[in-house]
Amino acid sequence: MFIKKINLINFKNYAETDISFSSQINIFTGPNGSGKTNLLDAIYCLSLTKSAFSSSENNSIKHQENFFSILGHFSKEEKTHTVQYDLAGQKKTFRLDKTPYEKLSEHIGAFPVVLVTPYDTDVIREGSEERRKFFDAIISQLDNLYLSELIRYNHLLKQRNSLLKQFAESNSMDKELIDSYNHQLLRSGKIIYEKRKSFIEALTPIFKKHYLNLSDKREMPELIYESKLEDKEFEQKFIQNLKRDILLQRTCLGVHKDEYNFTLDGHAVKGYGSQGQQKSFVIALKLAHFDIIKEKRNIKPILLLDDIFDKLDDIRINKLMEMVAEEAFGQLFITDARPEHTEKIVGHINAEIRIFKIENGVVTAEKQLS
Ligand SMILES: Nc1ncnc2c1ncn2[C@@H]1O[C@H](COP(=O)(O)OP(=O)(O)OP(=O)(O)O)[C@@H](O)[C@H]1O
Ligand SMILES: [Mg+2]
Repeated sequence: MFIKKINLINFKNYAETDISFSSQINIFTGPNGSGKTNLLDAIYCLSLTKSAFSSSENNSIKHQENFFSILGHFSKEEKTHTVQYDLAGQKKTFRLDKTPYEKLSEHIGAFPVVLVTPYDTDVIREGSEERRKFFDAIISQLDNLYLSELIRYNHLLKQRNSLLKQFAESNSMDKELIDSYNHQLLRSGKIIYEKRKSFIEALTPIFKKHYLNLSDKREMPELIYESKLEDKEFEQKFIQNLKRDILLQRTCLGVHKDEYNFTLDGHAVKGYGSQGQQKSFVIALKLAHFDIIKEKRNIKPILLLDDIFDKLDDIRINKLMEMVAEEAFGQLFITDARPEHTEKIVGHINAEIRIFKIENGVVTAEKQLS
């Protein structure tokens, strides 16, 4: 699967742009702020139905304009498909082969991408919510049922929390109603817990293999999923916690409090790992994600590598490029502010490499190496 062409209108700093890609390696070079990351984001949007960076979709509309449109032509199993994402004011339309989706979640996973960005290390440095979001996004791309269960859980959680608030404010309680929420939430939470657990079990050995390869076996990484649902008496404890929940007006226990622990040689990566080690850690996680999609879906996802060479030493860069050369990946997009630097790194790889120069939202195909 790969993207053949993209057409952007009023997306971030792009006015109107048409670009044809190589099915193998594409490199975007250009100065800071020219639009390299924005272009990766446009591809990401076509896969995940939303931006990887802007929390409000309207922020992606070019300043002074009132709509944007992203149109991608994909090749998948010898067929061409179009994916189109339009936003006009608050109205969002997402189409596959010109037919709008009723539910956006149905599109997730159909044209998978894996994005590696400098912001990824936030997943290490920030709180547990970032890590849950990180893994939720990955599991959702692999398993539509996970995504719908998660949506259901969050909805139930919100309803239970407002019920707790009502109880606290009115100093009364509707036992039947809370029992029904408890039951549904526990059931949904258990499904999420089981899916997270088996995903991490499958991911861990692949992740470790990638980390050890990237770091030339310098450090031993570990990835541990922690959930209160491991406790056999969890359901009982959840129900017994009702008084405290009412007091605090929120649900204190459940999969919305799960944690993922990352360590290197037994120490928390957060406080102990260097910037390069932290970056290697998330790259290994992303490569493992890539492998899992490849294995489960039998599709090589599009790999978007944003500023990947920054902070990695030569050994780690070479290890990564060895994988590219071995054709472990399908279509690849790489951004780098320094064109000579990237050309030197990828120059000897035997693949069709298209280099694009970006200047202030204007893209020119610079040259092709093959
Ligand atoms: N809605 C918008 N309208 C117009 N311009 C925008 C919009 N959103 C972002 N931009 C501009 O896009 C530019 C950033 O582009 P991008 O992040 O793609 O740069 P980059 O080439 O990746 O730079 P770097 O090398 O620093 O990573 C900024 O100059 C920003 O002002
Ligand atoms: Mg950038």
